[in-house]
Amino acid sequence: MTAADRELIVAFHQQCPAANLMRRWGRIRVAPDDLTRLLARAECWVGLDAGEQVVALVCIGAVSGVPGAVDLGLQVIDRCQRQGVGTVLARHAADRARARGFHTLTAFTQASNTPMLRLLDRLGPTRHIRDGPYVEVRLALDGLGPDLRSSTGAAWP
Ligand SMILES: CC(C)(COP(=O)(O)OP(=O)(O)OC[C@H]1O[C@@H](n2cnc3c(N)ncnc32)[C@H](O)[C@@H]1OP(=O)(O)O)[C@@H](O)C(=O)NCCC(=O)NCCS
Repeated sequence: MTAADRELIVAFHQQCPAANLMRRWGRIRVAPDDLTRLLARAECWVGLDAGEQVVALVCIGAVSGVPGAVDLGLQVIDRCQRQGVGTVLARHAADRARARGFHTLTAFTQASNTPMLRLLDRLGPTRHIRDGPYVEVRLALDGLGPDLRSSTGAAWP
């Protein structure tokens, strides 16, 4: 994704209900400045449906500034959730982060965000650091579990 794909991401966010945006962004509207910052500081990939509409967005960026750590942002449109899309994209982002030399993938989310916490715990060894109603999850990239997609021949490009 580059700044040229901005309109695709705007359309994607317009389809995400408030609760979904709230969990990803901590607010119910994504402002133009948010997108500018995201595209400037993070590497992003999208998931497309059969009609080539964006149904998911995953980003990694060294936002926290912790050496060797990269932060994950992940969002899947409601109608495509619980079908493994989030796991595939998070796995892709984790593989890319590891290939770039990062040792840890971090995610900051609500302690009640069961789907995200389950997803991260299934990727590899995690450490959860509770911060009030939030939790920071640290995933050790050198301990990533096997990518089951490759054993089915459905490897991510
Ligand atoms: C978190 C999110 C990205 C997961 O995407 P997804 O495509 O549904 O994820 P998957 O289908 O790969 O499922 C991942 C795990 O969550 C579980 N899960 C998914 N939806 C769930 C739900 N509504 N309730 C309980 N568990 C759920 C799945 O069962 C799976 O766990 P399992 O492998 O142990 O069975 C998606 O729910 C989302 O976009 N949420 C809003 C934004 C957000 O919370 N982002 C995270 C902060 S950056």
